[in-house]
Amino acid sequence: MSSSKKTNRRDGSRSSALSPIRRPFQYEGAELKCAGVALEPLARRYGTPLYVYHWETIAASFAQYRQAFAARPHLICASVKANGNLSLLHGLAHLGSGFDIVSGGELQRVLAAGGDAGKVVFSGVGKTAEEMDAALDAGILLFNVESAPELKLLAERARRKRVRARFGIRVNPDVEASTHPYIATGLHRHKFGVTAAAAEKLYREYSRHPWLEAAALSFHIGSQILDTAPFGEAVAKMVQFIRTLRAHGVGLRYFDLGGGLGIAYHQGQKPPAVNAYAATIHKALGDLGCTLLLEPGRRLMASAGALLTRVLYVKDNEQRHFVIADAGFNDLIRPVLYSAHHEIAPVQRRKGSLTVDVVGPICESSDAFARERKLSRVQSGDLLAILDAGAYGFSIASNYNSRPRVAEVLLKGGKPRLIRRRERLDELFEAERECLPKDRSPR
Ligand code: LLP
Repeated sequence: MSSSKKTNRRDGSRSSALSPIRRPFQYEGAELKCAGVALEPLARRYGTPLYVYHWETIAASFAQYRQAFAARPHLICASVKANGNLSLLHGLAHLGSGFDIVSGGELQRVLAAGGDAGKVVFSGVGKTAEEMDAALDAGILLFNVESAPELKLLAERARRKRVRARFGIRVNPDVEASTHPYIATGLHRHKFGVTAAAAEKLYREYSRHPWLEAAALSFHIGSQILDTAPFGEAVAKMVQFIRTLRAHGVGLRYFDLGGGLGIAYHQGQKPPAVNAYAATIHKALGDLGCTLLLEPGRRLMASAGALLTRVLYVKDNEQRHFVIADAGFNDLIRPVLYSAHHEIAPVQRRKGSLTVDVVGPICESSDAFARERKLSRVQSGDLLAILDAGAYGFSIASNYNSRPRVAEVLLKGGKPRLIRRRERLDELFEAERECLPKDRSPR
């Protein structure tokens, strides 16, 4: 297969395995649009702040993975934590995607969206007995177990239900991937997985258990990784480990590589193409012969989404110019939590520019989307798009400062569809109101 071959998919998306997906949010003259669709009418119709996603971009990214790994048996399990909106999960399930989940809540999301439980892998260091039970009842593909006591509990829950649980052990490959320390996971000092030595002991101890099937090896070295080398290093180490296990009579069907491939949040970042990532993995795998499980999150969703926010006020404090937007860090926390850079694009570009801080209404100094950023001049009432917000945007949103979570809109075939209505204020304290004493007269 030629790596530069373009595919025209049934849903109209075009994908090239060579190039990283282009953001759908691009300027046409002075106006930022999403794949040709004007954003101001969406903001007026659905209100702001507003998440807008472009379906064809997600589908094209999914197609890149499928194409790059076509040479081997594989299953792409989209990472629900990146964006768990039911309509997006439904669309991905329709493309044949499985799902990587980390909680009983995410399992319910997948099922509610019509996802196939038989394509679900359950990761996470702290699964509860109740979550295990729900996943066993649903008949998920795989539990990725992260400790000895967790495996013991899984065996016990499976025995009680008289079903056989397929498990993988998440091995911490002790590989350094340069990314933000909060999202690096592959070193022994991180809480994730167990050492290869501990995993070997567990596989040998549990591989003949009546209610367990040793089915997989899994690892995940971190997120927003912009270099293929650490993936190659981790895969090579794990392939070696699988060969050791085979020598001890433990044969595994699945090799779960986790996610982690990064995107370009700013121009200086050069993320590897999906097929370059795949080529590194294919090379390190050699003739291993397991079914690959891939758990991409960010690479599928991030650049497909933007957060639209309206400028409320503009003010100057001495030397500093502040653009006060109606979105806050409760809506998109990445800049605050990881000092992450997100491009901010005024939907109507004006002449002239100014260096500004783009901040939100939350009562904390940290509430800023950008500091000392050069933007074209903005005025109160202008619309801004915070780009690459499709992954770990809405999914980490909170109600801090009693702010309702915002609406989400999906553009598909050039048409917008509301995929989550804005929360109503009364919903925010519903669960508290029912706990109030009956007699509420002030003392
Ligand atoms: N599989 C496992 C086991 C994971 O822990 C993760 C992400 C993924 C897959 C998906 O990784 P991705 O392909 O999206 O890099 N909130 C942070 C990212 C946290 C990632 C946690 N684990 C952020 O906004 O950058």
